Amino acid sequence: MSLKDSLTFKGSIATQLLRNQHITTVEFAEGYLENSIDMKKFLEHVDYSINVHFALEDNFLIPIFRPYLRKYLDFEEPIRVISGEHLTIRRERQLLYRPNMTESDEEVQLSQDELSGKCGIIAKTLLQHVYKEENGLFGLVDTYLPEPEKKEVSARIE
Ligand SMILES: [Fe+2]
Ligand SMILES: [Fe+2]
Repeated sequence: MSLKDSLTFKGSIATQLLRNQHITTVEFAEGYLENSIDMKKFLEHVDYSINVHFALEDNFLIPIFRPYLRKYLDFEEPIRVISGEHLTIRRERQLLYRPNMTESDEEVQLSQDELSGKCGIIAKTLLQHVYKEENGLFGLVDTYLPEPEKKEVSARIE
């Protein structure tokens, strides 16, 4: 069963737009892993996710939600995990085309197989990241963030 069919992608106004973007991310990642989407298209979406989607979460959703998570649950683990994965995915993407330097300082190009293998890792990391947000952090936001702050997140993200 694909991730796309196992999640509802439905939430409060604070998370709905981000959840809609998750649907596209899952389509691209699963499509890449099933060979129905090529690497170039997949990486274009990865770059969009990193530059737009992660930024919306890091700059608006998480900072507005952090005090409430601390207030009601007194722990920050769900936020730490999500922010950490944003950094991991960003890094995996950056390392893709950076040539490895050998002892003789010669650039080593990744073979096509190595490249597609690394893209596969990014696709899988993205899928489990979306799953974690849909079933974890976003549910906490929908439950614990007060209504006025939900509206604020929604307005900032729009
Ligand atoms: Fe995220
Ligand atoms: Fe997300």
